[in-house]
Amino acid sequence: MKVNYDFYTGNDSYCDGDTEKDVISYLKEYGEEGYKKIFEKDVSWPVYYHITPIRKNILKWYPFKENAEVLEIGAGMGAITNILCEKASFVTAVDLSKQRTSAIIERCKDKDNLELIVGNFNDIKFSKKFDYITLIGVLEYAPLYTNSNNPFKSFLDYIKTLLKDDGKLLIAIENQMGIKYFSGAPEDHTGKIFDGITGYENKDGIRTFGKLELTNLLKNSGFDNTKFYYPLPDYKLPIKIFSDEYMPNEVTINDYTPYVANDNLGVIFDEKKVYSELIKNNMFQNMANSFFIEASSEEIDTVVDLEKENKNLYKIDESEQKFFDEHYFVKNQDEIQNFEFSNERIVATDASVEVDVNKTLIDENKRLQEELNKIANSWSWKITKPVRDFRTKYKNIDK
Ligand SMILES: C[S@@+](CC[C@H](N)C(=O)[O-])C[C@H]1O[C@@H](n2cnc3c(N)ncnc32)[C@H](O)[C@@H]1O
Repeated sequence: MKVNYDFYTGNDSYCDGDTEKDVISYLKEYGEEGYKKIFEKDVSWPVYYHITPIRKNILKWYPFKENAEVLEIGAGMGAITNILCEKASFVTAVDLSKQRTSAIIERCKDKDNLELIVGNFNDIKFSKKFDYITLIGVLEYAPLYTNSNNPFKSFLDYIKTLLKDDGKLLIAIENQMGIKYFSGAPEDHTGKIFDGITGYENKDGIRTFGKLELTNLLKNSGFDNTKFYYPLPDYKLPIKIFSDEYMPNEVTINDYTPYVANDNLGVIFDEKKVYSELIKNNMFQNMANSFFIEASSEEIDTVVDLEKENKNLYKIDESEQKFFDEHYFVKNQDEIQNFEFSNERIVATDASVEVDVNKTLIDENKRLQEELNKIANSWSWKITKPVRDFRTKYKNIDK
């Protein structure tokens, strides 16, 4: 691989903190293939997120054409750079941060069909055009790194000039109207609960959009044609990819573990149960947690057998199950017996009987979301404590 620092300004303006250093040192010690050993030591969210092969599923199924020239904008720590190198004839990967790209150097040092350019994409002059340009979790950041009054349009306009006439832009992005956000999952970019679905407190900041707005945004930059796919549970850890032609049903929807990065505890209902109802009401495509989008100025005639391709995606193996068990499943019965909801125990009173909701409702080894759903539906439950305190204090209700 070749590394080009000509456009590096000396400033790593995007950084996920000290955990980046941990990820880099794990990659140095074990390599990408040694992920099982890494997860024996550390299954914290950032380590799992950057290292699991499940990340590659977002592109593993995609039928790139032969001899494809690909530009990966915002390659980050290289979670999908290797799979791009396997699928394309040549990959040019770009990222702002020198520290983050040192992870790519670790992962891809044997790849001779890769050029890595460190710098802001908007400042880089390219000498060729591409068959595919990827934005995997990157479009959202346009307001931060594109110097323009209309950063999303300027960013996409520049991308359009770098695509061949029949070239395709491939975008993976959260859906502003994704079902998890209604359930209380913090907005992935701002960290604030309900921020996206209420239209974002900061109107000029990092953000994502819903399906129609994304379609229009792309049209405004000359991408007249779009095709949407729906990775579940989302584009970061996709277990299955769906499309308008290959929709989930009540059986296939059960094949994945929903998760909410960093903070599962704010989530108040089980998204799987809601998805089943959305499917019946033709609302799934607008409320899926994430999208994978193909965008082009030419008609899109991609043919892919998703039922078959889904079977070939990376599966969660034993070493990875540890991550889900630690973060998203109820632990053993002994711990449940001693478990208390923050500093207040939820006790349901019904005239003569006192029922301890903790003990009666929570089941061992069940998903937290499912169990929270039960609590939310129990007759004793009142909305979360901070909301109740607020109402008590300011409205003198719910005493
Ligand atoms: C959320 S991370 C996603 C990284 C990677 N695509 C992945 O899926 O793991 C966003 C990345 O985009 C990079 N980025 C955002 N805007 C950029 C720009 N204008 N030029 C270069 N890199 C950019 C950031 O430095 C960051 O590493």
